[in-house]
Amino acid sequence: MKFLKLLLLLFVFQIHAQQGGMWIPSLLEGMNEKEMKSLGMKMSVKDIYETNKSSLKDAVPHFNGGCTSEVISPKGLLLTNHHCGYGQIQSHSSNEHDYLADGFWAFKMEDELPNKDLVVTFIVKIEDVTQQVLEGVNALSNEAEKQKKIQENISTLSNSFPKEAWQENKIRTFYDGNQYLLFVTETFQDVRLVGAPPTSIGKFGSDTDNWVWPRHTGDFSLFRIYADKNNRPAAYSKDNVPYTPKHFLPISLDGIAEDDFTMVFGYPGKTNEYLPSVAINQIANELNPARIEIRDQALKVADGFMRKDNAIKIQYASKYASTANYWKKWQGETLGIKKSNAIAVKKEAEKKFQENVIKANKQKEYGTLLSDFEKYYNEIAPYALARDYFNETVLRNTELLSVAFKFYQLEQMLSTKGEQAFTDRKNNLYNGLGDFYKDFSPIVDEKVFEQLLVLYTTKSPKQFLPSSLNNIDVHQLSKNIYSNSKLTSYVGAKELLTGDTKTILSKINQDPAFVLVKSMADSFLKEVAPSYDALNLKITALQRNYMKAQLELNTKESRIFPDANSTLRVTYGKVKGYEPRDGVYYNPVTYLDGVMEKYIPGDYEFDVSSKLIELIKNKDYGNYAEKGKMPVCFIGTNHTTGGNSGSPALDAYGNLIGLNFDRVWEGTMSDIYYDPSLCRNIMVDIRYVLFVIDKYANAQNLIEELQLVHPKKNKKNKK
Ligand code: ARG
Ligand code: GLU
Repeated sequence: MKFLKLLLLLFVFQIHAQQGGMWIPSLLEGMNEKEMKSLGMKMSVKDIYETNKSSLKDAVPHFNGGCTSEVISPKGLLLTNHHCGYGQIQSHSSNEHDYLADGFWAFKMEDELPNKDLVVTFIVKIEDVTQQVLEGVNALSNEAEKQKKIQENISTLSNSFPKEAWQENKIRTFYDGNQYLLFVTETFQDVRLVGAPPTSIGKFGSDTDNWVWPRHTGDFSLFRIYADKNNRPAAYSKDNVPYTPKHFLPISLDGIAEDDFTMVFGYPGKTNEYLPSVAINQIANELNPARIEIRDQALKVADGFMRKDNAIKIQYASKYASTANYWKKWQGETLGIKKSNAIAVKKEAEKKFQENVIKANKQKEYGTLLSDFEKYYNEIAPYALARDYFNETVLRNTELLSVAFKFYQLEQMLSTKGEQAFTDRKNNLYNGLGDFYKDFSPIVDEKVFEQLLVLYTTKSPKQFLPSSLNNIDVHQLSKNIYSNSKLTSYVGAKELLTGDTKTILSKINQDPAFVLVKSMADSFLKEVAPSYDALNLKITALQRNYMKAQLELNTKESRIFPDANSTLRVTYGKVKGYEPRDGVYYNPVTYLDGVMEKYIPGDYEFDVSSKLIELIKNKDYGNYAEKGKMPVCFIGTNHTTGGNSGSPALDAYGNLIGLNFDRVWEGTMSDIYYDPSLCRNIMVDIRYVLFVIDKYANAQNLIEELQLVHPKKNKKNKK
């Protein structure tokens, strides 16, 4: 009987463990520790987060604000994804030194490559400051005033909270404004490129395999943090020395098996797990399809050129990958929302919510929440769509328009902030132009322009189109702009910014690309943005109240975690396969044999280098293989999102077993709705990473820095 109870208890825990969640590392003790241990975790939550002594958090910095990384040696060696270091690898590449195609390895520290604008940020401490931030806020009735007061409190507190001179205080909101945490952080600015496999390993399968399991990508790259002589952050200097971390991750050579405990520790960017069904419907059926269609066109054009011309391929590789990434994710998301019946599930939960509101006698506070959502989401729909069209067309995918928009902002600066602000912005813009034009091809962009303007004029909400775009011949327009705009070249763009303020304004106002963007931006900023912002403010307030209600009316069994907000989180689960559709089961581990199955000689996505083929033929796997087979990737039930790329996957003891880099196709809706039967995160097996460094690249200098451990073998020995 006792045994049965235990079994039942375990079962309950198991179900919970599969519910996902991204948890705050400083609050695991009450919330998660028991469950983590029941899943097999052998360390204490204090080993994960502690401020008085070193802990895992000291090895896990945010990588340039968008990815995660981990320190894996006492000399500040840093591991992250290939796609996270992609911009850096690309920027050191040229036709002569094509590190994307060939890989890059520093066999001596002197050969490591410095990077402009690359930083990593460690968390020193996390403090709950909700009370201080919300002080005096409830007394205010108006939403805008409340927000202003909150901002004031935040800035006072950020300035006064104790910290060292080289540190920073950052305050972030959790649960949509229901909780605030302060982070004391340390940011290192000298981070150098140490190693990257060739694209044929680091990006094997490229966009075809992106967001897909089974996967065979060695998505990793290596950097090193440098510090000043006192081990503190410092700008790049050749006198800087390798950073000595408070903690670095030991690496397990024992591998993983299905049902092993795993934990992913990193900086998930943004999720929306508590949206009402009406919002999910809008995303899945209106906004995602529009964005997908726009990017479809832009990507097709770029792809056509990239396949023919290697210089263009290098110029556009990074931009293409980042545009393609969400283009594909949105497709998976919309599919997943349908497949998992997310909207129906949420509607059902909303019915229950409404009942609970009545039961708790809270109609006055929460009774109209759902109908208000309905009303405001319907009102915001055309504005949200127009906004996506503007963002995707002008700001993101047509580069000439995006640079022209910067000139438009410059002009605005003069009228809103005055002459000095104008001059500062002008200098800034001028200095940034080189980087932009280095990777700009007007031939590619002209074609993109034509395709996207056709969509813009026919599919974005008509009522907001500027008159300049009514009844026009898009082909003529693009010909005119790309043959006459000075903004199509670096020289021309610099020329436009030369002279006194009056001259500059008069010159840019004669430029056809500028004139077009001005009309588009004017109409967007007058007709769309104000209404969008006003409605969005209302929706944000509703969402905060809805979150509050869910926290308040929460029944014990549903544990509510705060949406991702680019702060450090813990997610945990198990190594697990899944059933994508009836009759098909996906194993949780892939092997190098699968690389050869996918191999297409000469193909830009599925080529395999002769060196890797050789190693595979000879089964030359060092001591990284498992029963003669070389593991490549594995999946688990950890709830991750964008930003978790590069996050360490840890075993029960806190040793590194893998590197998170993706999610499975059927589960990309987990940002909105986590379905435990379909959602899996994808990790590179750390043994594959080691194999590539050691056997493929022969960079034993790096292997020697690492601490390799055998937690499973040791356990057996002890028994
Ligand atoms: N889907 C992964 C993420 O969201 C990997 C993206 C990089 N890979 C690519 N083929 N674009 O970042
Ligand atoms: N590849 C993603 C990133 O860059 C992580 C995968 C995901 O979104 O889950 O952060």
